[in-house]
Amino acid sequence: MYQPVIAGTGVFTPEQIITNKELVAAYNAYADRFNERHKSEIEAGEIEPKAHSSEEFIVKASGIEQRHVMDKSGVLDPEIMHPLLRERSDDEPSIMAEMAVDACTKALEKAGKTAGDVDAVIVAASNHERPYPAIAIEVQDLLGIDGFGFDMNVACSSATFAIQAAADMIRTGSARAVLVVNPEICSGHLEWRDRDCHFIFGDVCTATLIIRKEEATTPHFEILSTRCLTQFSNNIRNNNGFLRRCRPDGMKDRRDMQFMQNGRKVFKEVVPIVAEHMLTHLEEEGHRPDQLRRMWLHQANKAMNDFIGRKVLGRVPTPEEQPNILQDYANTSSAGSIIAFSKYSDDLAPGDLGIICSFGAGYSVGSVIVKRA
Ligand code: COA
Repeated sequence: MYQPVIAGTGVFTPEQIITNKELVAAYNAYADRFNERHKSEIEAGEIEPKAHSSEEFIVKASGIEQRHVMDKSGVLDPEIMHPLLRERSDDEPSIMAEMAVDACTKALEKAGKTAGDVDAVIVAASNHERPYPAIAIEVQDLLGIDGFGFDMNVACSSATFAIQAAADMIRTGSARAVLVVNPEICSGHLEWRDRDCHFIFGDVCTATLIIRKEEATTPHFEILSTRCLTQFSNNIRNNNGFLRRCRPDGMKDRRDMQFMQNGRKVFKEVVPIVAEHMLTHLEEEGHRPDQLRRMWLHQANKAMNDFIGRKVLGRVPTPEEQPNILQDYANTSSAGSIIAFSKYSDDLAPGDLGIICSFGAGYSVGSVIVKRA
């Protein structure tokens, strides 16, 4: 058996930013136009008028201040309200593969490795732009990696579930080095016309290189243990599956063809599951919560993270113990905890213990206990 380690991480951050101010202005303009267009139905009581969104609510409810996106022009146009991403020909690199190559190149550089050292790519994300060929195989081809690749999806937990798969491959020897990549174009599946969730998501791509400890030549983190859990729930759902074109009715305005959630229920149900999962994982591996130097949590909602952090440590964690990045990136689905890890892990000292934990639709929870080597 080999000891798997995280040898490097990389983050691709889209250049375009939408502030809460810009977002709310666009949403409110959309709502006003909607109400004007449906004036008679609203007056007849047939449909509800759309209420305005507000910057104050967004910050209070989520902690989000801005988000990076692949295209802001479409999102901020009250007549469009979704990103305008050019459809590419089959001969061009796909957009997810392009983001992935950037993040993977950074992760390889950080680890002092090249594509020749890698023999597997896992693209783990909550939405894939096509069912096949796998985006991972395209990334493998673009980077010039010999070996294999596959895509997987466990929504917001995709990264930690893929890290478990990669770590198990390293442990057993079925792969020497695995790139786990999370290209998340959340702007494509967010319903920007729904006031209750229009502020939630952003776009990004993260990459994590997992290798055998004896092949690590730069500072790295030993993966001590991984743990995954799922429990079925419809409270976060997107029905835009591969059968959509077989359906006879018009899809454009069907609300279930985009991200939907019962946010309050998610909050109440997921927080205890996650805290319990982390505590049990630590205990079963012989670690006490007070030994944790850092928690890199999924970045969906600040209050949710504060709550989980408090439950795990038994007190309010310091910002250093539990760094958040969601104020700058919003919820980037599976990539959130890896952005936090990537930005806030270099300062840990040898022997320091930490836990990466992501959670979301499914429900799903994945945790990875790591030690700075
Ligand atoms: N602007 C202004 N007001 C808004 C608003 C907006 N954009 N969206 C909702 N509101 C209003 C609601 O109408 C409601 O008003 P009421 O009390 O008069 O009915 C009030 O604000 C509270 O709404 P609610 O949906 O209960 O807000 P919340 O405080 O629970 O926050 C979420 C909403 C979605 C941010 C929060 O529930 C959450 O983050 N849940 C977990 C989400 C999650 O992790 N999802 C996983 C995705 S992968």
